[in-house]
Amino acid sequence: MSNIYFSLEEILNQILLGDATEILKRIPSESVDCIIIDPPYGIDFKTQIYNDTKIYVFSHYLLWLAELYRILKTGGHIYLFIPTKRLKKWLIGVEKFFTYKNLLAFPVYANNKYELKNNFGENAQYVIFAHKGKGRELNKIDWIPTSECWKNDKRNTNPKDFIHIYPNYFGNIIYANIKNNTIRKAKHPNEKNPELIQKFIELSTNENEIVLDCFCGSGTTAIASLKAKRNFIGIEMNEEMWSQSNNRITKYQKKQQVLFNNSLNKWFHPISSS
Ligand SMILES: C[S@@+](CC[C@H](N)C(=O)[O-])C[C@H]1O[C@@H](n2cnc3c(N)ncnc32)[C@H](O)[C@@H]1O
Repeated sequence: MSNIYFSLEEILNQILLGDATEILKRIPSESVDCIIIDPPYGIDFKTQIYNDTKIYVFSHYLLWLAELYRILKTGGHIYLFIPTKRLKKWLIGVEKFFTYKNLLAFPVYANNKYELKNNFGENAQYVIFAHKGKGRELNKIDWIPTSECWKNDKRNTNPKDFIHIYPNYFGNIIYANIKNNTIRKAKHPNEKNPELIQKFIELSTNENEIVLDCFCGSGTTAIASLKAKRNFIGIEMNEEMWSQSNNRITKYQKKQQVLFNNSLNKWFHPISSS
């Protein structure tokens, strides 16, 4: 069984097309610095894109978690997006392998933002934060203050509605989960906010380190990694999503190239370009 593992050069900064259950087995042990996943939750949510049935998800999740544990470097962090409905089940799985640290909560824009006032419906996105062994320290980074982050967002009619305070460390922040009514026109029903993912990446890794997302969807983690100057490894089994996430990455890289060329131009022709 030689060469069962990919070499890292082979898969770095790519989204691999296929089933995470198989592909994860081929990623070398202790090779990535951080994992960010937003898996199918197993809540029987009807989607044309992927299988979110309880049967499918909970017959696979321990396999996924075992492989992810093997692949993560000791001390590395994992962020796992999860709904309250299946929280207990996922937590039990996480604790079989990882050191569970805390549950983070971020407000979301539900279709009806007053749902909570009416019937205690969910209006938060939960993220399990855990690490492999004794976790490395979080980096000290600046969070974008609420007012800055959302001042241009048309949906934010009353900023006070969305203020979320993390005492001692984070300051005042607000990050919404991007639903269908997204700032970017979402291509995926579960597309997450790249700014939030970028903050996780900056907290848990340094430049040039590697972030893994084996349920890549529209490629949010890949984009956030590039923005944070980190490397990524992505996996996505839906061909259409895989192709859309690749387009998103190419578009971002082209934009960066144009910005770079413009800055070179200014440097070499400061008078003509002013
Ligand atoms: C909740 S969505 C992720 C959305 C993503 N965070 C984003 O911002 O676009 C889960 C994704 O996992 C993919 N998926 C489900 N099962 C998978 C598997 N076994 N292997 C790889 N991808 C899978 C689905 O096709 C779907 O796009």
